[in-house]
Amino acid sequence: MDLLSLRKHLRLHGLRWNSLACKCVFLVVIVLGFRAACLYRFSGFGSIEKGNFFATSDSDFLRGKSKFLEVPQIIWGLNNQKIALARACLTARMLNRTLLMPSLSASLFYKEVDLLKPISFDKIFHFDKFNSLCKGFIQLSRYSEVINRTDLLELRKGTGRRWTVDNDLHQLRRFHQHPFDEYEIIRIVGKNPFLWHDHWPVKDYAKVFECLVLGEDISIEADKVVSKIREIGLKVSKQVGSSQINGLNSMSEPVPYAAVHMRIEKDWMIHCKNVEQRLNISEICSSKDQIIQRVGNIEGLKTPIIIYLAVADDLLEDDSITAGWKEGLLPYEKKTLGVLDLYKKHPYLIQSAIDYEVCLRSDVFVGNSFSTFSSLVVLDRTQKMISMGVKRPCGMIVRWPSYAYNLEGESESPRRWATNMSESSLHAISYGSNHISCS
Ligand SMILES: *[C@@H]1O[C@H](CO)[C@@H](O)[C@H](O)[C@H]1NC(C)=O
Ligand SMILES: *[C@@H]1O[C@H](CO)[C@@H](O)[C@H](O)[C@H]1NC(C)=O
Ligand SMILES: *[C@@H]1O[C@H](CO)[C@@H](O)[C@H](O)[C@H]1NC(C)=O
Ligand SMILES: *[C@@H]1O[C@H](CO)[C@@H](O)[C@H](O)[C@H]1NC(C)=O
Repeated sequence: MDLLSLRKHLRLHGLRWNSLACKCVFLVVIVLGFRAACLYRFSGFGSIEKGNFFATSDSDFLRGKSKFLEVPQIIWGLNNQKIALARACLTARMLNRTLLMPSLSASLFYKEVDLLKPISFDKIFHFDKFNSLCKGFIQLSRYSEVINRTDLLELRKGTGRRWTVDNDLHQLRRFHQHPFDEYEIIRIVGKNPFLWHDHWPVKDYAKVFECLVLGEDISIEADKVVSKIREIGLKVSKQVGSSQINGLNSMSEPVPYAAVHMRIEKDWMIHCKNVEQRLNISEICSSKDQIIQRVGNIEGLKTPIIIYLAVADDLLEDDSITAGWKEGLLPYEKKTLGVLDLYKKHPYLIQSAIDYEVCLRSDVFVGNSFSTFSSLVVLDRTQKMISMGVKRPCGMIVRWPSYAYNLEGESESPRRWATNMSESSLHAISYGSNHISCS
């Protein structure tokens, strides 16, 4: 019997969870159960994860007073959803509650008619890994862990211009206090978390993103795309007898590739021209030709190299995106790689998650500093470097360099890009910025 079913079992028999007797019984069961669980865990699984068997706020659990936060369905693009999810997590952390696993959205509702298909968090990300990586920071719970679903308080977020960051913060602090903190569930109603005010530094967001590990099914799909890219890369390198391949042990050193998140589709162009006008800056929109030219000027790119083009589907019909690249830069997209069917099997959100992963794992990444997708890829790559002990992610020789093609660097190359982890809000690095910390 696991802890949850035990808890339910007790309820079934009319025992109040909080009663002393109940807790004593529970403690004994836990000690026995833990031994059994340890044996099971260390013998049954090939890989032993760091972290605790009792994934969800175990100490609160013992006291029988886990408190939960519920948030509205999370919507829009993959990266807006990730930011919204992080914001929901950080709000729960502020209220000292665990976040009830939220629903994400499988489709981009402003593009698809069958609105907002909800998809559970654990259909995209690994639930247990999230809790084990984020232990001590923030935890997710399943609805089955809630004891009394009517012990619920609604927190309505304010709206409009008069609802300032300070008001919002004040409200959250109030809901952390008596008598609001007594409720088992606080349910936030109103806007989607992406639109909530931001109260957290970049490093807190980075911490949440670090705990978001793609579910196995999706990660396997990304593996397939990446190996396809590397396979073609290896073939090409062999053909030209490239020096980079000589002495390269294909087992340990996979063939490098670059990824370019090429935003030139019509919607984006209209959007970015508007932003350029509004902000009175001219460095947001890059034409196809500018991107191709700047990527060609990146110093030290060993050729031949496969360039994976992460582009919107409408552009897959446009052969001109693979034309005009400098010799040795070999552009491929989903269709020319032969992985279009692999993508098409999945709803929008998963397709986007696979593309994100392919960009994240690339040896060189080039994106647009005004795109949330590109910004989160760079944040993830910077975080990865920092956790590998790289002190200066903008240094000349780093393992996973990133660039912004909409900003000009030295000798007409794209500008080097790394996330400044000391920024005090996500806004500074994620949407609408040409401050990219390497300059
Ligand atoms: C957070 O909640 C736990 C139990 O749910 C409690 O023991 C702890 O004191 C709380 N921490 C704060 C800072 O309120
Ligand atoms: C559940 O919570 C409601 C509201 O706080 C309360 O009236 C009710 O007695 C609770 N039920 C149980 C079984 O604790
Ligand atoms: C826009 O910026 C340019 C220089 O960057 C400046 O000369 C011009 O006055 C600005 N226009 C407005 C409307 O602010
Ligand atoms: C990073 O951000 C901090 C805080 O805003 C700022 O003081 C620092 O100068 C920034 N560093 C770089 C390299 O831009």
